[in-house]
Amino acid sequence: MKIVTKFGAPEMESTEALVFGLFENVKNVPPELESCNQSTGGIISHLLQNRDFRGKLNETMMIPTYQKISPKRIVLVGLGKFEDFSFDKIRQAYGTASRLIQTKQFTSFSLLLCKWKDVSVEDAARSIIEGAILSLYHFTMYKTVKKEENTKIKSFSLLVQDKAILTSVKASVKNAQTVSEAVCFTRDIVNMSGSDATPSYLANKAKELARKSDIKCTILSKPDLIKIGMGGVLGVARGSTEPPKFVVLEHKASKQTAETVVIIGKGLTFDSGGLCLKPGKGMDLMKGDMAGGAAIFGAFMAISNLKPAVNVVGLIPCVENMPNDKALKPGDIIKCLSGKTVEVINTDAEGRLILADALSYAKRYKPDAVVDIATLTGSCVVALGTFASGMFGNNSELKKRVKEAGENCYERVWELPLWDEYHELIKSHIADIKNIGGKYGGSITAACFLNKFVEAFPWVHLDIAGTFMVEKDTPYARIGATGVGVRLLIQLIQNWKTIPDVGKKSKKQGK
Ligand code: BES
Ligand code: MN
Ligand code: ZN
Repeated sequence: MKIVTKFGAPEMESTEALVFGLFENVKNVPPELESCNQSTGGIISHLLQNRDFRGKLNETMMIPTYQKISPKRIVLVGLGKFEDFSFDKIRQAYGTASRLIQTKQFTSFSLLLCKWKDVSVEDAARSIIEGAILSLYHFTMYKTVKKEENTKIKSFSLLVQDKAILTSVKASVKNAQTVSEAVCFTRDIVNMSGSDATPSYLANKAKELARKSDIKCTILSKPDLIKIGMGGVLGVARGSTEPPKFVVLEHKASKQTAETVVIIGKGLTFDSGGLCLKPGKGMDLMKGDMAGGAAIFGAFMAISNLKPAVNVVGLIPCVENMPNDKALKPGDIIKCLSGKTVEVINTDAEGRLILADALSYAKRYKPDAVVDIATLTGSCVVALGTFASGMFGNNSELKKRVKEAGENCYERVWELPLWDEYHELIKSHIADIKNIGGKYGGSITAACFLNKFVEAFPWVHLDIAGTFMVEKDTPYARIGATGVGVRLLIQLIQNWKTIPDVGKKSKKQGK
């Protein structure tokens, strides 16, 4: 997508449609639209005064301009009440308007940047661009007949009326475009079928990403995994003919003394449940069980352009969970990379087994922080629904930052506890630990399991089982993968600051 940020007068902008956001119950035409209003004989003021357009969130109205001004149409979109302002509403509204334009099969359009009271124009520009790019995304890989509407828009522009802010807005647009395109990249991989997006496919994707940038990529294949003893990854991979791949991506900051953040993503390319086979209904969604890993890919795609001032290591264990005759059996004991033994009670609780190895592997980078992201448990969806990812962690400062980053980009997280009583539930009689807890609190016992493999570094675990996809179209995510995690991780990494030493060493929450 080509995006041009330019200085100019809206009435002179030659475009199929000029988009403008308006708050609810605004009676007077904002100064940004005044010239268009006057040249069209007061059409906008008329609409507002007659309350034909009320500005309710995501309400749209397309107004033809009959060649009175250069834009062929003006698209008004409602931002909701000014008192309820949020950047996500901007994202939603401009997303809704962009999609309306997409359905009309126009080839290009312009978005008018406004100066809203007490709102940073750079942040507004960011939300507008994110809303537009993310809403226009459509997964068409497997369609033989492409819908016209989804392929037409090749470019759009953001119109700025104040020269003084042009440079800073341009920078903000560039950043937003990089991040949003990375989200789309993640969505593509998550939406692909499990038989196409295999561990080997992901490993090749990682290599391709590295080839095009100065990201370093290392792939550990089965013999390497055997050599170092990644029993969790190898155990889960046993039931499939697809060989496992452990992907390592590295970004080195220019400063020698930079800190290191390790981000880990579950790369389960298809989760059939293994011998504890899942029911058929909904099993198709398990092609998305690598959404955490795909978020790491997306984050690195953005990182390769943004070059943050912190070292970032991405670890993605890529495995398929299948039930052949070599598969893990309930009751089997495996030895993980850390040396800990695990009694596998349920082969469908496989994510934690591969993440355990990745967490142990993270230790070699002497990380200043580790964040893992995974479609880990159905019970997280039961607990939080689909509007928040579950958050767990051992360091209050890191948790606070992740929470803030989540709120900032509207990929919200909600904390759940890791109390000792929950840890009791995963004790095993014959091994060091077992891979499932009791009937209740499944997302918590899963996180407790991961906690056992966390060395003395600040750590946060994000359970995105409820947020990695949407079941119906929303203003800026169509049905399917959302690409959750990419924006949050980038937000966290771009604003990285040293975590104070206090509490850094605590292994368990509350201890
Ligand atoms: N990948 C699933 C979790 C999941 C469920 C992700 C729904 C996205 C949507 C995970 O591997 C799994 O199967 N978890 C089990 C654990 C159980 C066997 C303890 C679950 O949550 O049911
Ligand atoms: Mn599973
Ligand atoms: Zn899974």
